[in-house]
Amino acid sequence: MCGIVGYVGTRKAATIILEGLKRLEYRGYDSAGLAIIEGGKIKVVKTVGRVEQLAKEVAKVHLTGTVGLGHTRWATHGGVTVANAHPHLSSDGKFALIHNGVIENYSQIKAFLLTKGYTFTSETDTEVLCNLIAYHYAKERKPAAGESAFLESVRKALRHVEGTYGIAALCADFPDQMVAARKASPLILGVGENEYLLASDASALVSSTRNVVYLKDGELVLITPKEFSISTLDQADVSPVVDRIDWKVEDANMDGFSHFMEKEIFEQPLALENAMRGRFSEDSSTALFGGLNLTPAELRQVDRFMFCACGTAWHACLVAEHLIERFARIPVEVDYSSEFRYRNAPLDPQTLFFVVSQSGETIDTLAALREAKRKGYRVMAINNVVGSSIAREADGGIFQHVGPEIGVASTKAFTSQLLIGAMVALYVARLRDMSFNDGVDYVKALKGVPDLVRQALKQAAHIKGIAQRYAHYQDFLFLGRLSLFPIALEGALKLKEISYIHSEGYPAAEMKHGPIALISEKCPSVFFAPKGEIFNKVVSSMQEIKARKGPVIAITTEGAELPPGLADEVITIPDCHEAVLPIVATIPIQLLSYYIAVERGCDVDKPRNLAKSVTVE
Ligand code: F6R
Repeated sequence: MCGIVGYVGTRKAATIILEGLKRLEYRGYDSAGLAIIEGGKIKVVKTVGRVEQLAKEVAKVHLTGTVGLGHTRWATHGGVTVANAHPHLSSDGKFALIHNGVIENYSQIKAFLLTKGYTFTSETDTEVLCNLIAYHYAKERKPAAGESAFLESVRKALRHVEGTYGIAALCADFPDQMVAARKASPLILGVGENEYLLASDASALVSSTRNVVYLKDGELVLITPKEFSISTLDQADVSPVVDRIDWKVEDANMDGFSHFMEKEIFEQPLALENAMRGRFSEDSSTALFGGLNLTPAELRQVDRFMFCACGTAWHACLVAEHLIERFARIPVEVDYSSEFRYRNAPLDPQTLFFVVSQSGETIDTLAALREAKRKGYRVMAINNVVGSSIAREADGGIFQHVGPEIGVASTKAFTSQLLIGAMVALYVARLRDMSFNDGVDYVKALKGVPDLVRQALKQAAHIKGIAQRYAHYQDFLFLGRLSLFPIALEGALKLKEISYIHSEGYPAAEMKHGPIALISEKCPSVFFAPKGEIFNKVVSSMQEIKARKGPVIAITTEGAELPPGLADEVITIPDCHEAVLPIVATIPIQLLSYYIAVERGCDVDKPRNLAKSVTVE
């Protein structure tokens, strides 16, 4: 949600900031801006729209400064206007500020600042914080020896703030300094040669450096071209730990595909291989996880799992629930992170928590993790971003290892979450009653999943044809049963988020308890109808739709025999073990939504109103 980039060094800051903002645009893209210090003054350029538009505006101005910051916005306070775009200047023009997050007590602070003569040109909480920094600077200009008055003003202002923030600030009186701070909104410092970069996401840094320091909540950093120092809100010094990012800039390029989403769909066989690499026992009868920090004996004590997540990741949890209950016979509860944190659910003492989050920064999931930890539970994270807040705060976990996911609609992160959920089910099942032979069969199925996905991807041209025939519909139903019910939910979410078509997911048999009222020739239904014990029941549901003239798109498995003429369109995926069926069945719904969105001319990678990671409540 919103992207932050900062630069302090010897190169032209505007060029580096624009490049970083382009890479961060998937984080938020309703407006963008940058501020550069030049000749002791802060120069600001802002626009509504994309970074491309900002680059055009910047090209009209001669900006040569080597210290600056930039922002892409996803509106929280105030509409999408140039005035509300970041950076914001204090009313005396001395400070520039960019901000991700929400300042909850901004109206009280604003009322106070108005009485002190500060003026405001935007509706944002960010401008309020910027003026609060200016207020403290004007009020208490004499810092102790060795202190930066700029840093101290930011620190003082932040002590009065309630809410969340990742901020970066410039001060005209300190033209070679930048101050940044975070609370529940990610910030990473890139440590280059004679230069420092700051970003809310590693993808904006990797073209300059892979050495990074992950700032923690409550930390501030003062950056100059020669050095940086980290301290806390309470003025305690912090010794920085420099980490190395393990992916390269090429991972964040499109590689000849038309969209990141398309690239990420097609790289799933490799992503799944990476997610399972080195995670099977030598005898290939179970999974192994180095990062759980739990002994088998401790895991045997667990008598309930609780999974929390949002959106697509929540769908992955529903599949994990099905597989863990089915194979390990342990009860599982799944909750939306945003609900869990407020509903004060009674929990069994032997519950093990899992939070699932691609970005590791989703604020609701982070809050759920903290709530569970506060109650004394151990929390494991399934997460894709090493160094993310969730990865750092969890007691243990499993990294997805699928590389950066740039497309706003989650694809490869989702299937890798499904895979890891299936592996967790295997691991705990083998600690209980699953036999060696069943474990071996299960592992074989998991190892085969990249190839099954490759086969499913071969349907792309066929699915594109279906998409072209169905792109004009305004309503869709997605219907599946058992482990494919969550995939139906995921299909409906994928379609609505990138093509703006109304779509709903239901357990196929539930359709007759209400949604069937929607059925007409104008509302197609996408059915999952795999071979197996409930195949005939799904066929009956299809017949009920056909009887009401609803078009049917069936996703079925090899060897399943659909009555001729029942489905208007048939997509066939390989028949497979039930642990991997949800993964393979996801491919057609990803391709169908992608091609429908392309056919409708939608901006697939940057759907309206969305942002890649949701760091506000
Ligand atoms: C949909 C999508 C979102 C995310 C959700 C959670 O395609 O990507 O629904 O799944 O915002 O994000 P993470 O996994 O980063 O916590």
